[in-house]
Amino acid sequence: PRVAVVFGGRSSEHAISCVTAGSVLKAIDRDVYDVVPIGIATDGRWVLESGDPDRLRIEGVGRLPSVDGERAPVALAQQAASTDLVVTEPSQPPRTLGEVDVVFPLLHGPWGEDGTIQGMFEMAGVRYVGAGVLASAVSMDKAYMKVVLTAAGLPVLPSVTITARDWARDAGACRAQADELGYPLFVKPARGGSSIGISKVHDATELDAGLEEAHRHDPKALVEVSAEGAREVECGVLQALDGTPETSQPAELRVGSDHEFYDFAAKYLPGEHTEIDIPAELPPGVAEELRALAARAFEAVSCEGLARVDFFVMPDSSLVVNEINTMPGFTPTSMYPQMWAASGVPYPELVDRLIRLALA
Ligand code: DAL
Ligand code: MG
Repeated sequence: PRVAVVFGGRSSEHAISCVTAGSVLKAIDRDVYDVVPIGIATDGRWVLESGDPDRLRIEGVGRLPSVDGERAPVALAQQAASTDLVVTEPSQPPRTLGEVDVVFPLLHGPWGEDGTIQGMFEMAGVRYVGAGVLASAVSMDKAYMKVVLTAAGLPVLPSVTITARDWARDAGACRAQADELGYPLFVKPARGGSSIGISKVHDATELDAGLEEAHRHDPKALVEVSAEGAREVECGVLQALDGTPETSQPAELRVGSDHEFYDFAAKYLPGEHTEIDIPAELPPGVAEELRALAARAFEAVSCEGLARVDFFVMPDSSLVVNEINTMPGFTPTSMYPQMWAASGVPYPELVDRLIRLALA
């Protein structure tokens, strides 16, 4: 089958998407799949990428990869008088690069993980890996995700939404809402990822700076209670061909003491001291409960294909769902592929299963 691997994109997670794509392009079985690497530059232009995995790596601070926007432009278009999706080069005459059987949208964040590109694929009738429009949109927006998870009876941390407009109109009322939650708090862009734009706000004097930072990335910010003393444990979900959401062994992240939380550097930069335990060492019964909650969260948002569900294990061993990621990172330091490898699904097989699921 012919697989279009789409990566990069307009979100602040552009570089992480490139690293994710680098790992997947390295692992994908070329004897089975004919790969068309499509890059979306930071300005939104689509190009035929080289897909050279060695270029798609994080070399260090400030040395993040990006899509080469100077390469030949391409478009995924609906073929004239048919519903097949083809890759074309908008030159004269247009050059068709061939039909695509399935798209693997390895995009993180808005314009890729939020249902927008999924909507385009739906309109064109092309198959794609992962969650559909609704699940992607709901899971991308941390405020809506909580609405849906709460309605499904799943535990989440208390939070309030503060938009840039709310803040400009009545900062006093916003401050009162934050005070009511109680410090310390986390302030997050509602539709972000990879911890970009997130700050820990220790007391009321830091709220302005936290909101300003979050609003730089998204006019909608989430102000959330900090799960003090909690452990961070994640769980992979992978759908079986019959639709059952199967769960991986949970994994715990232990962030080095030089990081206050699991921030961007702790997630991705070489030489950081994030340690992971797979499987997480949890009190009896907690791993099973966590896996059951991960599957319930997956179904609550009507997810498809894959997801990584992130939890806090509170000091009393109760569980809280932090968030659900419909296109989790596949970078060398990312948890999702590592959790599956430890659960008996090695990386190349994981990629193969996801594509076969989309084609089924
Ligand atoms: N948003 C990043 C890529 C993750 O969830 O892994
Ligand atoms: Mg996320």
